[in-house]
Amino acid sequence: MAVLPILTYPDERLKRFSEPVERFDAELAAFIADLEQTRLAGPGAVGIAAPQVGRAQRIVIVDVSKMKRPVPNHGYLVLINPEITHWEGHEPGREGCLSVPDFTGNVIRATRIHLKAQNPQGETVEFDMEGFEARAVQHEMDHLDGLLFLDRVVSRRTDVFRRKVYEKNS
Ligand code: NI
Repeated sequence: MAVLPILTYPDERLKRFSEPVERFDAELAAFIADLEQTRLAGPGAVGIAAPQVGRAQRIVIVDVSKMKRPVPNHGYLVLINPEITHWEGHEPGREGCLSVPDFTGNVIRATRIHLKAQNPQGETVEFDMEGFEARAVQHEMDHLDGLLFLDRVVSRRTDVFRRKVYEKNS
């Protein structure tokens, strides 16, 4: 396993549209292990997407189960080719990103989602999600379409904030 280098804004590779995964093989499993190790390295993060390490494929990892303040969650999730099939509500919330290490931003996201994806074995999985877990999934899925939270804030002048320290799980 290896910790992979993370691309940071304004790297053009973060703007690419990622392709669906079609081969659920040992190479994919090895990449997922590296991606998870990368997520946990350094400051740690609640999520990471394959394009952040330069792989333009529809793979994300989300795990909000270790938050300081507990939130509803489904634990450690590897989501391949994820699709949101239902959205409900919307609310603003603060987001950070390993690819935008010096800033956080307020972004409006759906409050509840229904999610369809495949697991690393290629089997279909489905989840109803709410709150911060739903937010984290929406953030990571944006990476698959070449979007950062900076592209989602209403105003870069009033909704983006400089970090003092990148705290764990913030
Ligand atoms: Ni991100």
